[in-house]
Amino acid sequence: MDDALIDQGEIEILRSALLAWYAQHRRDLPWRRYQDPYAILVSEFMLQQTQVATVLPYYDRFLGKFPTAHALADASDDSVRAAWSGLGYYRRARNLQAAAKSLIRDHQGKLPGNLEALRKLPGVGDYTAAALGSIVHGLPYAAVDGNVIRVLTRFRGIRANTSRPQTRKTLQTLANAFLDPSSPGDWNQAMMELGATVCTPRKPRCETCPWTEPCRGRQTGSPEQFPVKDRAKPVQRIVTAVGIVRRKNRFLLTLRHDSRLLDGTWEFPGIEVTTGDAPEKVLRSHLRTRFRGAVKVSAELARVTHSITHRRILVQGYAASVSPLPREKRNQRAWVDVEGLDDYPVSSMTAKLFRKLSKRDPDTL
Ligand code: ADE
Repeated sequence: MDDALIDQGEIEILRSALLAWYAQHRRDLPWRRYQDPYAILVSEFMLQQTQVATVLPYYDRFLGKFPTAHALADASDDSVRAAWSGLGYYRRARNLQAAAKSLIRDHQGKLPGNLEALRKLPGVGDYTAAALGSIVHGLPYAAVDGNVIRVLTRFRGIRANTSRPQTRKTLQTLANAFLDPSSPGDWNQAMMELGATVCTPRKPRCETCPWTEPCRGRQTGSPEQFPVKDRAKPVQRIVTAVGIVRRKNRFLLTLRHDSRLLDGTWEFPGIEVTTGDAPEKVLRSHLRTRFRGAVKVSAELARVTHSITHRRILVQGYAASVSPLPREKRNQRAWVDVEGLDDYPVSSMTAKLFRKLSKRDPDTL
């Protein structure tokens, strides 16, 4: 590490300024109220690539259903899916359950107290291992995520491309040098908090920042130019047409089989439109092949959009009827009303569309 980047006297001042700011401005988040390592484990999994506001409605409910590592380890796959559904990146829930099993099998039900063992838990990468190790056990490792990269590159005016592994390494070293070894858990959360609430991607609130004075990014007049990274991948637009088959206030959902994405979730029966044909035509032909009965597809009833990473998905829901429904594969379909939806793992797209449709008057469907 370049000595010019680290001056011990300056670092002491920065540490006390940030920790004092954090003590005063930290958000009152549920996982910050718990001492229970398992509750913190759940929060860190939910927060992977996901903002605090998205996690909040799920967190206490999940802990209510699975209050201990034992409860989660023993739970059925379906009940874990249902509690996670809507949060996205379902693989995290699978990993979280596998991690709970590993705590019980390999670590006497406890969260391991060293970084290497944490790192070996399913779904735990460098960032989560450092966050857990510091928050639960006070281990002195810096958790470096997008927020922290933004804070550090701005603060030091680092123009190296942060998509490169070498730059990431330098930033990890820098973050480790900044970390206050007397309170690593608070330190890591303070850095995340600064990135999430003050040193934001757009329109950073430099006037409220505890580090504003020595910040090189601010001195340039355009802190938003940091961090420098590879151009984002172009947005891929995807259209999916789904059939809305209704019986009174229940909708037909079918079980998805797709090992790549959302496997095991329930959805409106439908198909991605990959040709230039009209979505309703593609849907009609898909439903005819799938259900073999007489299929009617008529008006579009509702549409929802959803963005995940570089994909923007438009789901168009068309009124449809199928009669008769074939007898086979009956365990792979369900008639679900809005009250029963919580028992089915669904993607957030399906949940959005379902809620939109449930508000409509059934006579207009
Ligand atoms: N993101 C990841 N971990 C977090 C935490 N403990 N608090 C707030 N945001 C986070």
